[in-house]
Amino acid sequence: MIIAIDGPSGAGKSTVAKAVAKKLGFSCLDTGAMYRAVAWRALADGVALDDAEALGAIAREKEISFGHVAGDPVPKRVFIDGTEVTDAIRTADIDKAVSPVSAAKPVREALVAQQQRIGNAGDYVVEGRDIGTVVFPEAEVKVFLTASDEERAHRRVRQNVDRGVGSIDYDEVLADLKRRDEHDSSRETSPLRPADDAVHIDSTESYIEDVIERICEMASSKA
Ligand code: C5P
Repeated sequence: MIIAIDGPSGAGKSTVAKAVAKKLGFSCLDTGAMYRAVAWRALADGVALDDAEALGAIAREKEISFGHVAGDPVPKRVFIDGTEVTDAIRTADIDKAVSPVSAAKPVREALVAQQQRIGNAGDYVVEGRDIGTVVFPEAEVKVFLTASDEERAHRRVRQNVDRGVGSIDYDEVLADLKRRDEHDSSRETSPLRPADDAVHIDSTESYIEDVIERICEMASSKA
């Protein structure tokens, strides 16, 4: 079974996806981390962010993999070509670079194919922007998770404080979220939009536990 969770930055997708996966015994795939890893490699190699072909070559040739922290069943460590980039892909520089990287068609083609290969190997909760529309249009459960701009920015600041990486300036984080949403929604290839058959959940005022429970119930009804 595939549970697709799409939505804008900071809507709570990662927290919800990981908790749903843990509860149901599913694996979990953070597709945003894959675009971030390609952006990290591009910056490290000095690849121009408007060179779609060179960016595509990174996505095709550098292996992206995930690893576990001891005792945690949900993979939270990210590697590209054997180098761990778990924290390095959460910086403000990567937040900026990831939009042009993810808009490059050759990058999307390579990463979507990898995501389909991974997801088809078992039961997965997959989170991203185009999972219900492009990567797994046949997913049994599709959720479009949103929250107000202000709530999303507050959450992202708290997350950055906890992780010790990324900006902790509320205004800067809010501006970046809005910029990325605009970019993700208006790009030509696979723009951020809800699948026609996605269930919309606004997490602004809901307890995250209730959102998790609701998605688990949706999955149980399809099992
Ligand atoms: O989810 P996260 O904020 O880590 O995603 C980082 C960026 O990767 C997004 O702003 C978006 O540009 C891109 N992305 C995408 N398609 C996905 C997942 C992420 O274009 N399925």
